[in-house]
Amino acid sequence: MLIQNIQIKNFRNIKSADISFDEKMNVISGENAQGKTNIIEALWLFCGAKSFRGAKDASFIKFGEKEAKTEINFISGGIEHNAQMIFLEKKNAVLDENNLKSTSELAGSLKAVVFSPLDIMLINGGPDKRRRFLDVSIGQLYPKYISLLRKYNRALLQRNKIIKDYKYDPTVSVMLDVFEEELADSGSKIIEYRKRFIEKINSYLPKIFSGISSGREEISSLYVANEEGNMLAVRLKEERKENSFSGFTSTGPHRDDIDFLINGISAKNYGSQGQKRSVAISLKLSVLNVIYELSGEYPVCLLDDVMSELDENRQKYILNSVKEWQTFITCCDPSNVERLSGGKVFSVKNGGVEECI
Ligand SMILES: Nc1ncnc2c1ncn2[C@@H]1O[C@H](COP(=O)(O)OP(=O)(O)OP(=O)(O)O)[C@@H](O)[C@H]1O
Ligand SMILES: [Mg+2]
Repeated sequence: MLIQNIQIKNFRNIKSADISFDEKMNVISGENAQGKTNIIEALWLFCGAKSFRGAKDASFIKFGEKEAKTEINFISGGIEHNAQMIFLEKKNAVLDENNLKSTSELAGSLKAVVFSPLDIMLINGGPDKRRRFLDVSIGQLYPKYISLLRKYNRALLQRNKIIKDYKYDPTVSVMLDVFEEELADSGSKIIEYRKRFIEKINSYLPKIFSGISSGREEISSLYVANEEGNMLAVRLKEERKENSFSGFTSTGPHRDDIDFLINGISAKNYGSQGQKRSVAISLKLSVLNVIYELSGEYPVCLLDDVMSELDENRQKYILNSVKEWQTFITCCDPSNVERLSGGKVFSVKNGGVEECI
């Protein structure tokens, strides 16, 4: 996977930029609030996922402008592609001159993994953050997974809509049968995909984590399903009455979670700030490896502000482990990554981007 260049027009604080990237290391440097993360975000959106900042579509357009546009040329599977994103009220995507119905159809074309300081929420935050992490990662590998999720969420919405009526109108049970069958069918497949993905993650995570934390700690991760896939249909039916009072569906993969354990103890509840950061970055580095193992191609690695977060040994470990990948790394002080020979360094100032030669 290789992003050759990006053109940006009116995206956030970047009025206009045209950047050609290095095949390996790209350092994006500049003082605070100059536009470094905006560039990482512009690149990330081409994966078909939502912004890692949780931003709404309208916030991508530069203040005072009506439209923004980004465009990349990239190589995937040995073939050159062009992708464009046009930001109006909503964002629209074009891949190799075909208008896509939704930007999520880009998933799988450009594969990337992003790490940002917000990823600490993968450990500290609620289970929705961890499910989203799974969905975005698996969706890049298997576009079929995204259609399963869509089916599941549609059926879930329908069930939640009518479940409230169940307590005074038993005839809705015919419709519940239909939606619950869909939930059980796509839900059990979603659980299967997620469990397999976590298994793959586990084949990298302990080694990467002990590398980052200098071998002192042991880590494991566990997919926590609130119900097994083959039991979903039965449980949903059993819980109709209870759910008709609460108004929502209490069983299924939309309630699942991942547990991270450091030396057998919950990282979320007992981990130090530094340990949690190390778990989050180890997890992302594991995803890079899993995507490589399963797709045969190195995904692009986007590292926003990782250097300021970690001590020197951890920095060294990370920079060393991404040297095979095309990497984009933001930092305030490029001397942080100076020890890396080769690559390009860009300076971002007030939304303008220049290559430092
Ligand atoms: N839609 C928008 N239009 C204009 N400017 C915007 C828009 N959205 C965000 N900005 C501005 O872009 C600027 C740069 O943001 P960005 O997050 O890229 O900074 P950064 O260089 O990563 O800084 P830091 O080192 O603090 O992380 C911010 O000052 C922000 O207010
Ligand atoms: Mg930033």
